[in-house]
Order: sequence, then C-alpha cells, then structure tokens
Amino acid sequence: MKNYDVANLALAEEGERRIEWAAKEMPVLSLIGERFARERPLTGVRIAACLHVTAETANLMKALQAGGAELALCASNPLSTQDDVAAALVVQHGISVFARRGEDNETYYRHIRSALAFEPQITMDDGADLVSMLHQERQDLLSRVRGGTEETTTGVIRLRAMAARGVLRYPIIAVNDAQTKHLFDNRYGTGQSTIDGILRATNVLLAGKTFVVAGYGWCGRGIAMRARGMGAKVIVTEVDPIRALEAVMDGYRVMPMLEAAAVGDIFVTATGDINVLDRAHFERMKDGAILANSGHFNVEINVRALEEMAVAIREMRPSVRVYKLADGRELALLGEGRLVNLAAAEGHPSSVMDMSFANQALSVQHLVQEGHKLPPQVYPVPDDIDRAVAALKLHSLGVRCDELTAEQQRYLSSWELGT
Ligand code: ADE
Repeated sequence: MKNYDVANLALAEEGERRIEWAAKEMPVLSLIGERFARERPLTGVRIAACLHVTAETANLMKALQAGGAELALCASNPLSTQDDVAAALVVQHGISVFARRGEDNETYYRHIRSALAFEPQITMDDGADLVSMLHQERQDLLSRVRGGTEETTTGVIRLRAMAARGVLRYPIIAVNDAQTKHLFDNRYGTGQSTIDGILRATNVLLAGKTFVVAGYGWCGRGIAMRARGMGAKVIVTEVDPIRALEAVMDGYRVMPMLEAAAVGDIFVTATGDINVLDRAHFERMKDGAILANSGHFNVEINVRALEEMAVAIREMRPSVRVYKLADGRELALLGEGRLVNLAAAEGHPSSVMDMSFANQALSVQHLVQEGHKLPPQVYPVPDDIDRAVAALKLHSLGVRCDELTAEQQRYLSSWELGT
C-alpha cells in the first residue's frame, strides 16, 4: 500500500519554505523539539494524527519526529490542507501524509482509515473523527493505544459524550482546555484568522457593517472583538444567558438570530451546533448578506436549505458561492460553510499555534510516560505543562513578570489574616 496520498509532490520545496517561515514564530515548539532531539522520549512510538495539514502542524510533526516518533498524518477538514506542506512532509521528512485540499467526504474518511492502518499507540485529533472511527470501525486496534490528545472544543464535547456513555476505551487529554490553548488560540487565533478569511474571500470593508457573531464562547469573543476593532457594529446571538449577559456588558447588542438576520451584513457562526443559520433566517436576510462559519464542522449553516431555496448558484470568487433566491436576493456563502479561517485563509497565525502545539507535544510525552496508568477518561492538560508553556512563551517574547514574595505566599495560604 502506498504510504501517502497528497496532491502534488512537486510542491515540496514551496511547502518547506512555508514550514520554515512558520517556525520563526514558534519558538516554544522549537525548544521542545530541540529537547526531544536530545532526549528522544518518543522513540519508536507510533502516532496517528488527524489535524489541519498546515505549516504549523508540520512543525509539530517535526518536533514529534525529533523525539523519535513514527508518524501518519491525515486532514481534519477536507478544505484546510495546504498541499505544498503535505508534499514537503512526505518528500523532505518521510512522513505518511493522507490529505488533499478539496477532497470529497469519501476521500476524507478513506484518509482517516489510512492513518489508522498505521496501528497507532497514540492518537492526535482535531474534532474527534479519528477517535470516533477507531472506536466504531477498528476496535481491533484499541488494545494497543496508550492515549490520545484532542485539539478542539467540538472534539472535547464528543469525547466527553463517549466517556459519559462508557464507550471511550483509552485516556485522552483535552488540549483545548489548557489555558494556554483556548485563551489564546480560540480567542486571538480564531478572532484574527476568521476576519482574515472573510477579507481574503470577499475584500469587503468591515467599517460600518453590521457583523453578527453567533456564539460567545472563546472563539465568538475573539471574532466579535476583532470585528469591532475594524469598525463593524457587532451583534452577538447566544443561547446561554450568562454568555449573553457577558456580551451585553462587553458592549455588544444581543438579540435572537431571527431579529439579527434582518439587519446583519455579515454573519459568522461559532457555536459548535447545527443549523444556527437556517431557512427562516435566510428568508429574512438582506440582499448581499455574507455567511461564514468558524465552528469546527460545516453543520452550523444549513447549506442544504440554501441550495433548496436557490434558483441559481454562482462561484463569484474563490471561496465565495452566491445563492440567488426566488425573490432576487443574493446570499454569499464563504468556504462552503466550512471553517472560514482555514478554507479561505491559512488558519491561526503560527505564533498562537506555538502554544497550542507545545501543549500537544508535551501532552503526547506525558501520555507515553503515564498513559498506561490512566483509566479511559478525558483528562486536562497537567497544570505544570500549561504553566511551562506560558512561561516559555513569555520568555520568548522577552517579557518578565513578578513572582510572589514569601510573605505574599504565606498570606495566600493563611485563613486567619484579613485586613
Ligand atoms: N487550527 C486553526 N489554525 C490552525 C493552523 N494554522 N494549523 C493547524 N491547526 C489550526
């Protein structure tokens, strides 16, 4: 069996340059990679990773490989693969990559099967498709798996559902839940890269536009903040009253999506749930409204309903599909309703992925050392790893911070002292 499936190996040199460029912004991961090269803590460990195949992921693969791991990588989204990076990983680094940008669903799942055929001891997932398929189709492989990591909120929710139903068969670390992951990647990474995707796809002016953000989790907070920063009038929609209140106090207008639908110019979903933008919303939207999704799966915008309502569909620009409705209004869907930041741009900037992937690399090392002791549950990233990543990132930025004095430590651990 061929041990890779990528679009074009001739793109390898271009991909290598892109990987090198990203590495300049990933000093924490570089340090970990250097230590891994000295200590080889992953010698002979077989890892199957289902991640967005980007330059940042390539640097994570290089760090794990430096630690002695053997790797198979498949895409965690059909539209996020950087084909040049995929080629470079095969040609320059001898890694088995199964990913082609724009692959259809069948190929997407075939690629996951190929990564599983590698018989991993560790899994790395972004959205839990690899873990889900492993548990449903390849139970024969489960006994040799020591542990796994999960990158994103959606995946962690799926894994928790598996654990709650008692079907999860090995321990998985929720990298997403590390503070040095979601506070930065989900907020600043998604915030910037979502705007980047919308602008690259459409080149619209954000100043003065009404920009509707569905969901006020860490991603939604980041998107709303950056849209406001570019002069948009931001509306937030929420189902959670606490988050809705937070959005109000952060200075946004909050209203139900049915109301927002009538006034928005640009809509971005970041909820993790299905049909957040649905037929009833499309019926009310203004002519020219732009629709994008920044949640992990392409389920948040009901694309099928849009297709059914359309009398004509046109590709206006790369990543922009315009649906003409019977009454003449046109709605523009970006990146087929898939993650707009990866479908229409390059995903989160390297500097923020530096922290996410430092957590990934250190969590893999932790699982290799400790995984056999852990019952099959979803685990947080150990706090010492989270703090080490923050300390290294600060150091790399040339920023120092204070430490508690002995007196302050004593005060914090005492209960007798008040004023
Ligand atoms: N998720 C979001 N942005 C990403 C990137 N640049 N690389 C890998 N995964 C990502």
